[in-house]
Amino acid sequence: MNSEHNGQRITLVEVAPRDGLQADPADLTSEQKIELVERLAAAGHRRIEAASFVSPKAVPKMADGDAVMAGVTRSAGVSYSALVFNQRGLERAMAAEVDEICGVVVASETFSQANQRASVAESIERWRAISGAARQAGVTTAVTISAACGCPYEGPVDPERVLDIVAEVAETEPDEIVLADTVGAGVPTQVAALFEGVSRRAPGIARRGHFHNTRNTALANIAAAIDVGVRTFDASLGGVGGCPFAPRATGNVATEDVVYLAHGMGYDTGLDLDALIATTAWLEDQLGHGVPSLVAKAGGFPG
Ligand code: COA
Ligand code: ZN
Repeated sequence: MNSEHNGQRITLVEVAPRDGLQADPADLTSEQKIELVERLAAAGHRRIEAASFVSPKAVPKMADGDAVMAGVTRSAGVSYSALVFNQRGLERAMAAEVDEICGVVVASETFSQANQRASVAESIERWRAISGAARQAGVTTAVTISAACGCPYEGPVDPERVLDIVAEVAETEPDEIVLADTVGAGVPTQVAALFEGVSRRAPGIARRGHFHNTRNTALANIAAAIDVGVRTFDASLGGVGGCPFAPRATGNVATEDVVYLAHGMGYDTGLDLDALIATTAWLEDQLGHGVPSLVAKAGGFPG
C-alpha cells in the first residue's frame, strides 16, 4: 500500500442507477432500482445519481424517476442527485426533493441535437434558467460538459471549444463542473490538459471527471486527472451503462476498479470494496447478465 496520499479523500459519485441503467438492456422495476440505490448507500456512497427527470419518450428506462426517488429510504449524509434538462424536469426534481441537480451541455453540435434536441447555445441558456431556479431553492448544482474528449458523430472536439463552454457555464456559478468523456475517446495527456484548462477558465469551481471505458482508457484518465488535482469522479457499479444517444459508447468506469486504484494509491474513498463487489453480484442477478468490472471478478488484493 502506497501511503503517499494517506488520508486524502477521493470522492466517487455513483452513477449506476442513472447513467448505468438508462442504457442497459434490462428493464428493472422501480423496486429493484430503489434497492440498488439503498445498497449503494449501505456500501458507503455519499453521492448517488439516483434518477433522471428527462422526457420518457427520449429515455424510457428513466421514466420512473419520480417513483424511485419517492421510494428510496434516504440515508443521513447522502446526497441524491438527478439529471435535469428542462423546466418540466426541474419541477419533477424539486417535487422529488433531490439534493443536487445536474445539467448537461454537449460540446459538439451534432451530439447536442441528438441528445437534447437543442444547439449548444440553447442548452447553455436552458441550463442558466434551471441552475438559477435550483440555486434559489438552495439545491446544489453541477453541470457536465459532455463529449469533452470527442464526439460520437463529429470525432475530435477542439479543447478550446470545450474550455469556452466551461467559461460560459462558470458564469452560472455551479458547485461543480464535470468533464465527461461520453464515448471513452480520451487519453491521459488530453484529460490532464483539459482539467488544467478548467482551473484557468473556471477558477474556484470544483472539478469532477466522468469517464466511459469504451476504449479501456478510463482508469489511466482518472490517474492523470488525479495528478492535476481532481478529486471527484463519477463511476458506475460493475461498469454498467452507456448512452442511448452515443452509438457504441459502453459503460462508465467501474466503481470497484476505481476504488481498488484509489485505495492502492493510499487515498481514502469511504467505500467498502467487499460490499461493492457483493452489490455487483446482486446487480448482475437483477440485470440477468454479466458486467465489465474487472475487480468484481478478481476481487481485491490480496483478497
Ligand atoms: N419530463 C417528462 N416529460 C417530458 C419532459 C420531462 N422532463 N420533457 C419533455 N417531456 C415530454 C413533453 O411533455 C412532450 O410530451 P408530448 O409529446 O406527450 O407532448 C415530449 O416529452 C416532448 O417534449 P419537448 O419539450 O418537445 O421536448 P423535445 O422533443 O424537444 O426534447 C428533451 C427535448 C430535452 C426533453 C429531450 O431531448 C430529453 O429529455 N433528452 C434527454 C436526453 C438524455 O437523458 N440523455 C442521456 C443522458 S446525457
Ligand atoms: Zn456518461
